[in-house]
Amino acid sequence: DNIFGSSTTDAAESLLQAIGPAIEYGIPWAAILGNHDQESTLDRQELMTFLSLVDFSVSQISPSVEDDDEDQGALRLIDGFGNYRLRLHGAPGSVLSNSTVFDLLFLDSGDRETVQGRRTYGWIKDSQLRWLQDTSKQGDNQSITGNPPALAFFHIPIPEVRDLWYTPFIGQFQEGVACSVVQSRLLQTFVSMGNVKAAFIGHDHVNDFCGNLKGVWFCYGGGFGYHAYGRPNWHRRARVIEAKLGKGRDTWTGVERIKTWKRLDDEDLSKIDEQVLWEASYTFFK
Ligand SMILES: *[C@@H]1O[C@H](CO)[C@@H](O)[C@H](O)[C@H]1NC(C)=O
Repeated sequence: DNIFGSSTTDAAESLLQAIGPAIEYGIPWAAILGNHDQESTLDRQELMTFLSLVDFSVSQISPSVEDDDEDQGALRLIDGFGNYRLRLHGAPGSVLSNSTVFDLLFLDSGDRETVQGRRTYGWIKDSQLRWLQDTSKQGDNQSITGNPPALAFFHIPIPEVRDLWYTPFIGQFQEGVACSVVQSRLLQTFVSMGNVKAAFIGHDHVNDFCGNLKGVWFCYGGGFGYHAYGRPNWHRRARVIEAKLGKGRDTWTGVERIKTWKRLDDEDLSKIDEQVLWEASYTFFK
């Protein structure tokens, strides 16, 4: 939701403002769409095309050919725009410099849908779940450390996130979970993939908590931009995720620990709610 409402008169200009700092500092960045972004001058396909072409972008419109099921030989149609996978290699010069040590999965949860005459939100479709499963089954011949940890990013929460109210979540749960009436099998898919450690969602701008469902963390970002709704006297905020590489005797190794926290847009840019999402249970070559 970096575009929110039709008051935006130039979608491209608005997106450039949102990602401007990353470009200015030369930081590779990736984006997915919220449910509001198409409310201005570009539709969802045009938005993702634009986002994939801007400087330092590693965003993609749809899964790249190498991620496609080789048996079928051709690109299949996958619902939405901005379903893609980024595989991060180990540190340059290290033994894992050509191996995947961290997997990032991006999904388009759509905008609005009508189901049996009822207006509801989008959801992660079966075509997307199949792509996730194929992706995870693909023997990762680039990896020598087994299945590296993965994080997923999508906008609209799944209905199971409501259950987190009854669990010891970290952060604030101040608004109802707005999601589709359609129950996707996303959580079961993550669980069966085994390496998805956390999923990051948006949509409910004044929720910023993390809770755990069947071993997978679900974390809200908390509203970031001032163009969309927030809450008076509740600072806008951004969620930070840190993946730390392990250090062997004489080389950097794979991801050893994944942490998250939030930075508030207050005077001190306060850091709050730091927590560990995952720690490797193995030791690298020590
Ligand atoms: C990684 O690939 C490059 C280019 O093929 C090669 O020169 C290098 O030795 C490889 N490094 C490792 C650690 O396998």
